[in-house]
Amino acid sequence: MSEAPVGVFDSGIGGLTVVRAIMRALPAEPIVYVGDTARVPWGPKGPDTVRRYAVQIADWLVGQGVKAIVIACNTATAHAIDAVRAAVPPTVPVIGVIEPGARAAVAATRDRHVGVIGTAGTVASGAYERAIGALAPDVAVHARACPLFVPLVEEGWTDHPATRLVARTYLDGLRDSGVDTLVLGCTHYPLLADVIADVVGPRVTLVDSGAETAAALARALDERGLRRDPSAPPPEHRFVATDAPEAFLRVGQRFLAGALRGVEVVHFA
Ligand code: DGL
Repeated sequence: MSEAPVGVFDSGIGGLTVVRAIMRALPAEPIVYVGDTARVPWGPKGPDTVRRYAVQIADWLVGQGVKAIVIACNTATAHAIDAVRAAVPPTVPVIGVIEPGARAAVAATRDRHVGVIGTAGTVASGAYERAIGALAPDVAVHARACPLFVPLVEEGWTDHPATRLVARTYLDGLRDSGVDTLVLGCTHYPLLADVIADVVGPRVTLVDSGAETAAALARALDERGLRRDPSAPPPEHRFVATDAPEAFLRVGQRFLAGALRGVEVVHFA
């Protein structure tokens, strides 16, 4: 079973930010990645819809023989982690991105004021307030939805004047609220990290949950003896989109370079 791949999914290319962190931390692990490009964005959709999409993809990944699943999407973690855990065999650990992101934010904040930006669904769910509150009840959480960021990233506009204008519109108020740490609470947002850092300024530490999520995956694999032999030949990865594979490849390659050579298409009903 340790030779089996790790399944990772998101609504689109955003989860590749988590894939990159997994590749760095666990370079021997093969990955099967699904980006649900036919149905992106998930952020504005209701919890039931996101749960249905997430469970469908998790079922498919289990059918591909994965040994663990990483929900590389905050929106799906907020709405669907329990449903995904209930849907997959108990031997398959399911790791989300919110608890690792909350942990990193609590470790980073000095002034105990943390900003969280995410999709409308993630912010409305209150998942970060709960996760941060459970770790550090004294930390104040200032959350802000940034719904236009996901389409800008999917379009590849990671450094575009329009993106800078949108970022200023969303983030000026948050910066002025005195946060010293800002959680990129959507896996698409690390692709906008330079623009976001320019707007919020050098006093604010940006938290990307990718590295913490990869560490949580490593722990889950080790606990179950599922880690692949690090001296084994380099892993083969698979990347799957549910529509428009060319756009996925074009934008994804800018980010993952040679690790992303081709994209398969799978349709979910
Ligand atoms: N990247 C996802 C997240 O972390 C979803 C973005 C979307 O599809 O709206 O929330």
